[in-house]
Amino acid sequence: MRIVVTGKDGQVVRSLVERGALHTDIEIVALGRPELDLSDPFTVTSAIARAAPDLVVSAAAYTAVDQAEDEPELARAINVAGAKAVARMASDLGVPVVHLSTDYVFSGDGTEPYRETDKTGPHGVYAQSKLDGEIAVANANPRHIILRTAWVYSPFGKNFLKTMLQLAGSRDSVSVVSDQWGNPTSALDIADAIITVAKQLRADPAIAPYGIYHLAGTGSINWSGFARAIFAASRENGGPFADVVDISSADYPTKARRPLNSRLSTDKFFNVFGWRAPDWQDSMRKTVARLLADTEA
Ligand SMILES: NC(=O)c1ccc[n+]([C@@H]2O[C@H](COP(=O)([O-])OP(=O)(O)OC[C@H]3O[C@@H](n4cnc5c(N)ncnc54)[C@H](OP(=O)(O)O)[C@@H]3O)[C@@H](O)[C@H]2O)c1
Repeated sequence: MRIVVTGKDGQVVRSLVERGALHTDIEIVALGRPELDLSDPFTVTSAIARAAPDLVVSAAAYTAVDQAEDEPELARAINVAGAKAVARMASDLGVPVVHLSTDYVFSGDGTEPYRETDKTGPHGVYAQSKLDGEIAVANANPRHIILRTAWVYSPFGKNFLKTMLQLAGSRDSVSVVSDQWGNPTSALDIADAIITVAKQLRADPAIAPYGIYHLAGTGSINWSGFARAIFAASRENGGPFADVVDISSADYPTKARRPLNSRLSTDKFFNVFGWRAPDWQDSMRKTVARLLADTEA
């Protein structure tokens, strides 16, 4: 089964390439710039057609949440028109699309985990572009699985976990917001989930579980608690650690407002696909240990 994924160096892309290599019946083909540029739909169409996929994973996106406030046209071109072109091409080839979306489609009110049927309320350009991208993907390909994920980290690229480890190398204390809650999610777990979906769709294309799903690490925490857990894991492995000072979102203003509550309920994904992500602390510890081992190597 050939799975074509958009992007080359993204966290989810690299995780899918790594995890896909563990399955003899799966080939992952990563397509990114320049041959596939989401801001140029012609390249999307031709690159995907050439790759002849059995399934397309739409993982590339404009992900610079604050910068999007300054370049809304580019963010929308990539996250709406680009995502739509990917889904349309998959549809033209008669194959399903798995599209990555975000917890930021929600406003962040309340304390309960959001379900797929809950009302959306995005703040800011990035969040709105991802919500509009979901709608464009769903309209372009009836065989769509839209996976809303959250707080993604991995051994690859830039993410909160790696930033914390870097900061601990040069500081005694780090200030981190404590009033935003969510589910830290390993991109390697996302990759495992996507492979699970791919295998089930191949086994029974008529399973028809098409629609929106929430996919995130199991268990929730606030950002400062996440930072403390990262430092504890690092310390256990002989790595750097720092004190964490709780601050509020008001003390750390950003161009785009973040949801205070972006907890996601993953029950629907579990009920349909029989898979749930590991506890976020287990996956986080594995990533910290791997990064520290890589540093020593
Ligand atoms: N990171 C998070 O915390 C988070 C949270 C919720 C949802 N998500 C969603 O999950 C998905 C994967 O996120 P991620 O963390 O893996 O993202 P990431 O690490 O920021 O990677 C983004 C990828 O998109 C590619 N890309 C950007 N513009 C492109 C363009 N014009 N044409 C082709 N490729 C382009 C990048 O390519 P280059 O390598 O060439 O730059 C990179 O491969 C995204 O849809 C994101 O919205 C992420």
